Amino acid sequence: MLDFKISKLSDCFGIEISDIDLTNEFNNEDINILKRLFFDNHVIVFRDQKISEQQQLAFTKHFGELEVYPEADKTRDSQKTYHVANVNLDGKHLTDKDEQVIFQKVNQNWHTDSSYRFIPSYASLLYAIEVLPDDAGGGETEFVNMFEVYDSLDNELKIKLEPLHMVHYYEFGRRMFPNLPPVSDFEKENIPPVSHPLIRLHPDRHNSRSLFFTANAGNEIGGMSQEKGSILHKKLVAIVSNSNFKYKHRWKKGDLLMWDNRCLLHRAVSYDMNKYRRVLRRTTLAGTSAIKGPFLDPSII
Ligand SMILES: [Fe+2]
Repeated sequence: MLDFKISKLSDCFGIEISDIDLTNEFNNEDINILKRLFFDNHVIVFRDQKISEQQQLAFTKHFGELEVYPEADKTRDSQKTYHVANVNLDGKHLTDKDEQVIFQKVNQNWHTDSSYRFIPSYASLLYAIEVLPDDAGGGETEFVNMFEVYDSLDNELKIKLEPLHMVHYYEFGRRMFPNLPPVSDFEKENIPPVSHPLIRLHPDRHNSRSLFFTANAGNEIGGMSQEKGSILHKKLVAIVSNSNFKYKHRWKKGDLLMWDNRCLLHRAVSYDMNKYRRVLRRTTLAGTSAIKGPFLDPSII
């Protein structure tokens, strides 16, 4: 039976767990306890971990299937871990002109991981290997609770959003940063643009609604002109940025943080990338079904 300490990360969501070693063996009962805590709190930070890539993969697999990255430009040695770093695998600090670093800038916009897939990811686990010193500005990861954001919208906007989709596509990063190399034919074929409902229903939570969009994978709304869609998209970005339902995580070395991509957005906070090294290792859990919108089942509107 697990024995650990839990404390709250913020008033809105998230917990911190200490006195646990994630390299230990866990039985089904232990994992069910962690799954329940994750479901209820959306973010769990495990402090003071010392965990290898293989151990992180093994821990991640307790919660579901791993997501595999077919994209060519994320990592050199593995399709199952993503190096969120301005340092290459040989330990060299890269400048902010390097494409690996530019991808980190794309993710300074609100997003959920892999929203550009037909089935976006369920959850991500990020392990802190090198972090910014305490006196450096930025480098945090910020999260926002999209159930709370949806609930805070006025009724007129809720009704307007109800039937709408956003178009998500992997290539959008190139629009923001045209110096990135073009998307390969392989990537174009394997990850074409997809549309997801702006209002997401959660079947495992009695079809409760959250707002679902991203700002790193598009700004177009299906059925609206590009101009009108991008105005609405900008408005949604501003609502999220100005909301009170956020938690900003200041990384400590050895943190392993897992978050629920189904009900949170997140973004990296900018920092001086040429001055400071930042190395995080991500594993990702695949989603299990396409995103459900309110219009799919008229009986539940
Ligand atoms: Fe991300």
